[in-house]
Amino acid sequence: MQDSQLNTVNPFYLQRVVKLAEHSRIVTSDDVYAANGMKLLAKGTPISHEVQDRLIKHKLKKPLESSLSVADAIDPQYLVALAQDVLASQTKLQPILFFGNHGGQALEILQGLALNGPMRMVLTMLERSGNEELRQSVECALVALVLGIELGLAQERLQHLAIGSLLHDIGEMYINPEYLRGNNNLKPSEWRHVASHPLVSKMLMDEVGQFPPLVGQIVLEHHERLDGSGYPRRAAGDQLSLEGLIVGVADTVCAVFRCYGRPLARAEIAMRIVPGQFPPQVTQIVTLALRGATQPEPVATELPAVALMTEGMHRLLKQLAQVLIALDELQDEAQIKSYKPAQLVVQHAVQRVNLIQRAFSSTGLDSLPRAEALGALAANDSELQFEIIVVLEEIAWRLRELSRDLQLRVESMPEFVAPLFERLVLSLHMVRS
Ligand SMILES: [Fe+2]
Ligand SMILES: [Fe+2]
Repeated sequence: MQDSQLNTVNPFYLQRVVKLAEHSRIVTSDDVYAANGMKLLAKGTPISHEVQDRLIKHKLKKPLESSLSVADAIDPQYLVALAQDVLASQTKLQPILFFGNHGGQALEILQGLALNGPMRMVLTMLERSGNEELRQSVECALVALVLGIELGLAQERLQHLAIGSLLHDIGEMYINPEYLRGNNNLKPSEWRHVASHPLVSKMLMDEVGQFPPLVGQIVLEHHERLDGSGYPRRAAGDQLSLEGLIVGVADTVCAVFRCYGRPLARAEIAMRIVPGQFPPQVTQIVTLALRGATQPEPVATELPAVALMTEGMHRLLKQLAQVLIALDELQDEAQIKSYKPAQLVVQHAVQRVNLIQRAFSSTGLDSLPRAEALGALAANDSELQFEIIVVLEEIAWRLRELSRDLQLRVESMPEFVAPLFERLVLSLHMVRS
């Protein structure tokens, strides 16, 4: 048996299993052995709090995930029924879900998915978590399939896309749930865990789901971006699969639609301010679908006061200025110049900040009159107010992301150079209200 990280039982995964076992019957589908050959549980043993300790203490011969089965596990028919329910509901995603009339074909693909027992168990865990996790996965799969069908992908690739989009986040089950809640102020070590979830998803797809390699690649790449700004590998361009990027788009779109406010506008803006991150032929479909939506959206009622917004814009401009100063200083620093890895990190930061600035410019907001005059302009224009709020949030989010990324890169650098990055990291991370 090959050695795998999965041979050590992940405590967060096991916690979820035990929680599910409180309401659904879960038993071992095989004898469970420790790596040293000792038999830990016989086939048919119900999972409960009592066996939790025994499983955590030992390294196992094969992943626990492959040795469990749950009564009434989710099957493809159930997925189809859930997908039909999503399509019939008044979800804000409708303009995308119905684009090109691909719904029927998408349902057929879900219907035909080949999922083994362990994967059906995973879906069951998502379904019974009480957080609509399975419904959200199905939404993402439907969006990804509509995009894939519209792009003319062959049947087999669509099947892989369906599995990948459905299960892309299962690695999150292996992360401390507290890190996943509010992710604004994670420490680098905590962020490292969160950022590893695509790797865990891939491992599960390969070893437990036993899917073809493309499925593993898709889930591994769902947070990667064309321009190399994603994670966990910072892969770029040709290194990435189209399917992985499609899931990235679908995931982004679904996340945007779950946010408050006017989702349609929000999605359009979010897509617009990340030029270069996704293939244009994919984002174009989203834009077309949203443009085709005829229903005017009601204007969001809870806009912050104009004064607060002006202040927010003011602070963003100030923050960007500070970031540029910090970057400038770093580029001039003799120690940085003498140490190639640090130089590369600075170059990377410069590129990312340039991209963020370009994204900001592409919204046209930075060319508006000075921040002081914005208030007067926006006072009677709720469209503009809304756009400003979204852009401020998005840019702040991207700066913070870069801050975390840099912290991880700097952590492993020698003492004589690491502290030099502090000012840049701080200026990027500035928390705004
Ligand atoms: Fe994810
Ligand atoms: Fe996701």
